[in-house]
Amino acid sequence: MTDILFVKPILPRAGALVLPLAEGFTLDGLAKQADEATNGAVSRGLEAASFKGKKGQSVTLWAPGGHLSRIVAIGLGSSDGQDIQAAEAAGGHALPLIASEVEATIAAEAFSPSQAAAFAQGLRLRAYRFDRYRTKEAAEDKPKLTRVTVATPDIAAAQAAHAPLAAIADGVYLTRDLVSEPPNILYPAEMADRCRALEKLGVKVEILTPPELEKLGFGALLGVAQGSAREARVVVMQWNGGAEGTAPVAFIGKGVTFDTGGISIKPAGGMEDMKYDMAGAGTVIGLMAALAGRKAKTNAVGLVGLVENMPSATAQRPGDVVTTHSGQTVEVINTDAEGRLVLADVLWYAQHRFKPRFMVDLATLTGAIVIALGHEHAGLFSNDDTLATQLAAAGTATGEKVWRMPLGEAYDKQIKSDIADMKNVGGRPGGSITAAQFLQRFIDTKEGAMPWAHLDIAGTAWATKDAATTPKGATAFGVRLLDRLVADHYEG
Ligand code: BES
Ligand code: MN
Ligand code: ZN
Repeated sequence: MTDILFVKPILPRAGALVLPLAEGFTLDGLAKQADEATNGAVSRGLEAASFKGKKGQSVTLWAPGGHLSRIVAIGLGSSDGQDIQAAEAAGGHALPLIASEVEATIAAEAFSPSQAAAFAQGLRLRAYRFDRYRTKEAAEDKPKLTRVTVATPDIAAAQAAHAPLAAIADGVYLTRDLVSEPPNILYPAEMADRCRALEKLGVKVEILTPPELEKLGFGALLGVAQGSAREARVVVMQWNGGAEGTAPVAFIGKGVTFDTGGISIKPAGGMEDMKYDMAGAGTVIGLMAALAGRKAKTNAVGLVGLVENMPSATAQRPGDVVTTHSGQTVEVINTDAEGRLVLADVLWYAQHRFKPRFMVDLATLTGAIVIALGHEHAGLFSNDDTLATQLAAAGTATGEKVWRMPLGEAYDKQIKSDIADMKNVGGRPGGSITAAQFLQRFIDTKEGAMPWAHLDIAGTAWATKDAATTPKGATAFGVRLLDRLVADHYEG
């Protein structure tokens, strides 16, 4: 899907016509014109299908007459004409029903400009597809939709509402591309190179390589990387859209391009999923693209720690002790608890280099969060009630929901080590919480509070079923959530 055009309502002469209809609808505007042009096929068809405009309900009328190849009615539920999320979800539900058309026109006359833009956004988010490695797909099986025309009375207002959404969708697409790539193609150095694409959006991109990381003392991150033939990278991305000299907001991502578990190796079944263990980093990269693409009036930094966790003759062993960039030491009990080791060094570095207003990290950190929250909410851990509340609200607004989990001293005790400052696992009870406690030890509050939140996205980064705005596969969970956090509280 490429173009979204906003035009005055005129009955199209080809392709699909989409009619978003709320409960209790009457056919007017383009819907009425279409009904007349097809000698009542629309009203008869909707009646025959018992279409009531309920959320998720849809009817397709094939070759209804006139020049159209199909008319698709899509339910909005009891939407009051202002509901942004209902419009976006309806757009998402409509996409598969029109994907095999080249052109589609959306009858959006009853929508507010922001709803019209949201419907288009729903279409766009659902239209994502990762088909780089399908070489034999028949042309008729490929989606053809290239021109979406949104018929709306207030073209300028709808376009204005849509412009930032297009940038956000570009960020979502970038994240989904990165997360979908197979692990032989996307290894740390390759992922770092792909960050360079952000330079054309005005993002400053810096890539740190092992000699620099050694000099900085990133012993925990390098310990994870040492079993792999692929070198580690840390990428620092800076977007300066805010006032000069104001402290940035900071986003930090776990980028394990493949997690075998290392010497504490994972079982074979499902191990291929661990290609998406870089989703935290992929999300930070897409988020930076979204912020820069819509020229957000804020200073933001994104840092990603990129490594591959492999077993080999050079791999770290259970029992090894590593010294982190912070100076604290860690006894590595389980080499599969590697994400926290990577984040430990990057969090400390981000805080001390940038002195940010807050830090939010994203990581596919624990299987335990999937047991606790399933695939509906990401786990939210925070030392700051304001930031936690803002994140929860942004989650509700975008549909990328988070659920706050506890932190506390008693949990922290679980990661005490007999020979080092801490160990990297705290046992099975509260596995996601002790992982967060570990991260919190790398938030420095010696010189005052540092608002920090950790999002455990192990259950939300990848979907095995289609949803309205996320086709199955990489979801890019977090891009829209954190863009919204910034837009609502940290701009201007
Ligand atoms: N990358 C995994 C967590 C994960 C699990 C992500 C499922 C996505 C889906 C992480 O590195 C890991 O292996 N965690 C261990 C921690 C344990 C060794 C304390 C886990 O959750 O089993
Ligand atoms: Mn692991
Ligand atoms: Zn991992």
